[in-house]
Amino acid sequence: MTAFLNGQYLPLAEAKISPLDRGFLFGDGGYEVIPVYSRRPFRLDEHLRRLQTTLDGIRLPNPHSAAEWKDIVLHLVARADFEDQSVYIEVTRGADTKRDQAFPVGVAPTVFAFTSPLSTPTPAQRESGIAVISAADIRWGRCDLKAVALLANVLMRQMAVDAGCAETIMLRDGYLTEGAASNIFVVQDGILLAPPKDHRMLPGITYDVVLELAARHGMPYEVRPIAESELRAADELWMTSSTREVLAITTLDGEPVGKGTEAGKPGPMSRRMYDWYCAFRDEVMRRADA
Ligand code: PDD
Repeated sequence: MTAFLNGQYLPLAEAKISPLDRGFLFGDGGYEVIPVYSRRPFRLDEHLRRLQTTLDGIRLPNPHSAAEWKDIVLHLVARADFEDQSVYIEVTRGADTKRDQAFPVGVAPTVFAFTSPLSTPTPAQRESGIAVISAADIRWGRCDLKAVALLANVLMRQMAVDAGCAETIMLRDGYLTEGAASNIFVVQDGILLAPPKDHRMLPGITYDVVLELAARHGMPYEVRPIAESELRAADELWMTSSTREVLAITTLDGEPVGKGTEAGKPGPMSRRMYDWYCAFRDEVMRRADA
């Protein structure tokens, strides 16, 4: 598998960094995950813009222009053995000769990227939806930045795995924030509810696509804080991310999501949104070919 490290393309197994790299020592860096369908990156400009926002937010000069990043991503995509991919890119504040929290002077950032096969939900997950648990959001105050320091998210994801679930939904001060590696949407009385983009959650690229599609197709939606009680009384829940796309959540903390005979099954609005998402993605890919 080919990787990119500090200006060079090389086999992933040969990519080596210093143990003094600040990404390793402090989680001092930013990253992106870009989905690629049939070798065409989806929403690449938006991912590169969010990377810029992250790097600005942690005061790390972007070592590459958007054009250079595109070149790196497309190079990796072209060299891979698989069509649908997930490209990971990371920039850290580099490796100094000592360990000191303050920014190093005159140290080049570390730039790393590689691509892997895109792992989207299984047919069974699509059919039945997924089970999730909830937990208190114990993360720092800049969850809007896609920082590589993901220890709280790691613990949350593992909590889900330990419970035999696919994701952990986080709550802060009685309000929904997001999933450990996803954004969360709620459906109540035919209205799609989305938590507002602020410092408490990552502004998901897929989140934006979902709201664009809701507007385009006339699905009523509101962007506003969502109380825990609303989450638990939801008619439908779904999660979004670049790799999980739009995926129905059918069990929350062991309770079926929704009411009546439809409880515990993917709801009609999540099915519609997933269909719109696939159609939109295919439309964008066709346009890229034109
Ligand atoms: N994670 N919130 C968090 C905390 C995330 O880690 C992610 C994505 C999202 C969804 O963002 P997007 O739609 O732009 O993928 C929301 C990626 C996939 C990851 O860390 O692997």
